[in-house]
Amino acid sequence: MGLFAGKTIVVTGSGKEKGLGQGILRRFADEGANCVVSDISIDAEAQNVATDLAARGVKVAAIACDVSDSAQCVALVDQVVAEFGAVDIFVNNAGIGFMMKPMLEVDPADWAKVIAVNLSGAFYCTQAAAKAMIAAGKGGRIINIASQAAKTGFPHLPAYVSSKHGMIGLTRATAVELGAHGITVNAVCPNHVTTGLGAMQNEYFSKLLGFPTVEAYLANMAAKNPMGRPGLPGDTAAACAFLASDDAFYITGEALNVSGGEEMH
Ligand SMILES: NC(=O)c1ccc[n+]([C@@H]2O[C@H](COP(=O)([O-])OP(=O)(O)OC[C@H]3O[C@@H](n4cnc5c(N)ncnc54)[C@H](O)[C@@H]3O)[C@@H](O)[C@H]2O)c1
Repeated sequence: MGLFAGKTIVVTGSGKEKGLGQGILRRFADEGANCVVSDISIDAEAQNVATDLAARGVKVAAIACDVSDSAQCVALVDQVVAEFGAVDIFVNNAGIGFMMKPMLEVDPADWAKVIAVNLSGAFYCTQAAAKAMIAAGKGGRIINIASQAAKTGFPHLPAYVSSKHGMIGLTRATAVELGAHGITVNAVCPNHVTTGLGAMQNEYFSKLLGFPTVEAYLANMAAKNPMGRPGLPGDTAAACAFLASDDAFYITGEALNVSGGEEMH
């Protein structure tokens, strides 16, 4: 029996192999949780993520949801409750972080898109998940995958940085209201992880900062990190597992850095 046997976890934006969402779901599947893979579409890659989880012996569903559409967020939660009985752990992980441009050149439509997915999407899903958790009367856990960019500024990512700072505000505001229902709400703030999104950022920032190669950029990142390497999906997954555990019941409204000491406030 794993730590989360009998629980159901939903992770938005979890349909990419090597993504943080897949890493989180793998950790929870290994701890016995039933898993819901969700992404903007359930393509072959998302099906692979689901197949890999099912091989770990837990019940798995893959459900499409564009988190920038509030009705789809409600439908996602409704379908999970219908198929699994409850939503115990909901992770807001869907995010766009690949629109890199100097602040003075950002198109308002791109700004709006990033805020719609990263921040409004987390709000819509939190509202839907919290309603289901309150109706079930068993408490719950909501975890927001923010970023180091929720704690500090980065160049050429103004909408992303703003959306992630906003996620911490959402975390705190929601935690204050949901505590009475036994629901904790926390954010996790990872530093750089070379996922699909992370790889696009590596390409862009290695050039912007004048590194001869992506490898040289990553080596510099590792050298500057107190723990000597960039992040891995398993680091974020471990933080989520702790925050979802009974041991973390009294922790809410926090924004936990998972950065090897790169970020300390
Ligand atoms: N990789 C990093 O360095 C890093 C660091 C800190 C935080 N994060 C955050 O972690 C989360 C996961 O990122 P990742 O690095 O695994 O990248 P990723 O691109 O693999 O994952 C992002 C996922 O969000 C999905 N998505 C995009 N728009 C969506 C929408 N409208 N509705 C539903 N899903 C949508 C994508 O399809 C993708 O599966 C993101 O919120 C990201 O900001 C990543």
